[in-house]
Amino acid sequence: MPAKQDPAARAAELRDEIARHDQAYYVQQKPTISDRAYDELYRELRELEAAHPELATPDSPTRRVGNELPEGSKFPTVAHRRPMLSLDNTYSEEEVRHFEQETVRKRLAKAGVAEAPEFAVELKIDGTAVSLWYERGLFVKGLTRGDGVRGEDITANLRTIREIPLRLRAKGEPPAFVELRGEVYLPRSEFARINAQREEQGLETFVNPRNAAAGTLKQKNPKAVAERRLGVFVHTPGSFEGVAFERYHLFLETVRAWGLPVNPHRRVCKDAGEILAFIAEYDMPRRTYDYDTDGIVIKVDQLALHETLGTTAKSPRYAIAYKYKPEEAETTVLDIEAHVGKTGVLTPRARFEPVFVAGTTVTYASLHNQDEIDRKDIRIGDRVTIEKAGEIIPQVVRVLVEKRRGDPPKYRLPEACPVCGTATVRREDEVALRCPNARCPGRFRERIVYFAGRGCMDIEALGEKMVDKLIAAGLLKDLPDIYRLERAKLLELERTGEKSIDNLLANIEASKRNDLARLLAGLNMPHVGTRNAELLAEHFETLDALRKAGVEELEAVEGVGPVMAQALVDYFADPDERARVDGLVAAGLNTKSLTAKVRKQAAASGGAFAGKVFVLTGDLGKYSREEASKLIKDRGGKTASSVSAKTDYVLAGEKAGSKLKKAEQLGVKVIDLEAFEKLLAE
Ligand code: IVH
Repeated sequence: MPAKQDPAARAAELRDEIARHDQAYYVQQKPTISDRAYDELYRELRELEAAHPELATPDSPTRRVGNELPEGSKFPTVAHRRPMLSLDNTYSEEEVRHFEQETVRKRLAKAGVAEAPEFAVELKIDGTAVSLWYERGLFVKGLTRGDGVRGEDITANLRTIREIPLRLRAKGEPPAFVELRGEVYLPRSEFARINAQREEQGLETFVNPRNAAAGTLKQKNPKAVAERRLGVFVHTPGSFEGVAFERYHLFLETVRAWGLPVNPHRRVCKDAGEILAFIAEYDMPRRTYDYDTDGIVIKVDQLALHETLGTTAKSPRYAIAYKYKPEEAETTVLDIEAHVGKTGVLTPRARFEPVFVAGTTVTYASLHNQDEIDRKDIRIGDRVTIEKAGEIIPQVVRVLVEKRRGDPPKYRLPEACPVCGTATVRREDEVALRCPNARCPGRFRERIVYFAGRGCMDIEALGEKMVDKLIAAGLLKDLPDIYRLERAKLLELERTGEKSIDNLLANIEASKRNDLARLLAGLNMPHVGTRNAELLAEHFETLDALRKAGVEELEAVEGVGPVMAQALVDYFADPDERARVDGLVAAGLNTKSLTAKVRKQAAASGGAFAGKVFVLTGDLGKYSREEASKLIKDRGGKTASSVSAKTDYVLAGEKAGSKLKKAEQLGVKVIDLEAFEKLLAE
């Protein structure tokens, strides 16, 4: 930093520079600076603001993540400048033609308008609507749609979305006021990452990316919002002072120049024929994008004509949505089972008559929770249609009530735990029903299966069937019992040969030498899946150091927020958990991070993998994801779950999907297995 520069001027310069890099990185996805140089700018600004608190302006990038709302509080509501309407839906070509001819052309002719309307056609993003207010270029307020008249003030949460600039990049004087409306969405890759993590943690999974996005925006803690990488696309002019637009498509161009994301898939069409061609053209490619879309929105491009056409009570006449038909299949619900997870959550699961949909045979689908079952009124024996959320996870769309025979009873999750019989409870603020018995054998079973599973201790011979057998024989009650199994007792088990017992014992013995990260992953600590377990292991290097860490020390770890830090401290304070961990330590399990050291050395080695970020996608043949990921990390590389400009390589196996596309879009180097093995051999 130039020594004599005025701190105020330098701070302004830094804010501007960081905002420009954010924009390049998050909106254009073309980074203009290295991570390290960016971090340096950021640190300089933070230090400057700490030394001169008066310089910390509200648009400072250091102020993105604010404080948690007090417990029990609600988001205040604010009146929208203009009501937030919704769109009429259409489902057929005829309806689109009718909109173009009758709703638009005929009405305009009647109103004496000579000008021919044009139509801006674009994707309908399946997210949640927000309104963003900028005063003299500064982001001052962000609202949900609410009831359309008043919305909830979720400014603090929206500020954490890095695609939303805190200051508009206006050329010259920014407009006095602009209100932009758009759709906040959760990328599919993020949805998959978050749900996998929640499943590992025994938390309820989100039904689809839209629910996850809406739920995230209603979180009371902005830090938790910041941890999920939400995206946004602006799609509606709200209200303006000091700036005006004639055409919708030009409005979008301006919004883009201001630094906000606008969806690139759009076109101005002259008539219904061109509109229908756009609709047909996008039905397939839209499925490969990293966000859900459920249709196309058609808007009259001339904004003055919006006034002429006006609105009905709920929706405008100048725009309409065309909804694509989702790929669905029909089947029968054979049963609904309540499954007790390792944290005690009861998850209802439907078993179907197997049916083929979007590429695979579907037999089961999570019904998520009681509310979801009630809302859809799903009963055993019902004919239902199912689809795949984000093209991956099967779920029930609706019950075909007209095909229901008689009046089967409504399904209710059991009032008693199906395993231990303890009365189930619903915690305040949660939809999930739980077995509250921390010693429920059902929970132990799941914990043991999970502990022994892949990604954790990887005790191959201790699969679900063996666990059930050992539990039934009274040999396995808790995790440390695994290491107390005696050969003589095992030999008494029915239908279990000597060979398989020796194999089991050898697997168990070998697992004692596992890396600390695997042990941590297996412990079922709150919020700790395989990824966080690795981060913790690499950071603390020993189990002992982790157990002794306080909240502050934990928060210093990459990826650990205040909620997780507190939960970890609570975990290690719980007497049952302490005894469990002590039991494992006493059994002689390795409690040191083997990789922390090796990897530090490898990263400094300058080898082919050192410091490189890999994203794995598709079927990697002889390597499992974990194996490939370990090979990379042991050589000093890193892995990430989604492709960004920071990715160095995408390792693409067979049937690679959207990540491969994304890599191509971003110009990230893509390698196949053969090239990967060459790198390994280097
Ligand atoms: S224009 C009068 N354009 O869909 C409302 N909406 O069902 C004008 N949406 O509330 C909205 N993508 O939240 C528009 N490209 C798009 C959209 C879009 C998603 C949402 C929006 C709206 C809802 C209408």
